[in-house]
Amino acid sequence: MKLARRYRFSASHRLHAGGLGDDENRELYGKCNNPYGHGHNYVLDVVVAGPVDAASGRVTNPGRLDQYVRERIVAVYDHRDLNRDVPDFTTLVPTTENLAFAVQKRLANGWDAEFPGTALEMIRIEETPRNSFEVWRT
Ligand code: NI
Repeated sequence: MKLARRYRFSASHRLHAGGLGDDENRELYGKCNNPYGHGHNYVLDVVVAGPVDAASGRVTNPGRLDQYVRERIVAVYDHRDLNRDVPDFTTLVPTTENLAFAVQKRLANGWDAEFPGTALEMIRIEETPRNSFEVWRT
């Protein structure tokens, strides 16, 4: 069985690769390279896979999952400047591809102890209504 839960957070970012010059960055990222940054209302889907527990009839406790995701993701990213305020992006460009990897890493660390017998199957982040990114467990 797979359970999907949805979360939201808002954050700002600027796409600028430290190893490239200003002109190259403008060429590569266009308006996303604007020095003042810009914000997104991100939508995060977390998919948990596992057997349905016979006693509870559920894959996992959704309230515990909510608490876990809020502590590790929403509390860290919501209303932050990803470039400046979040250590995940000190050297990493905060594209939504890299954000998806960072979210996966934060959730995977300690997962088995918190949600034994289940797997963090996939996370999906919608950056805008036109683009979204998925990262699956390996
Ligand atoms: Ni953006």
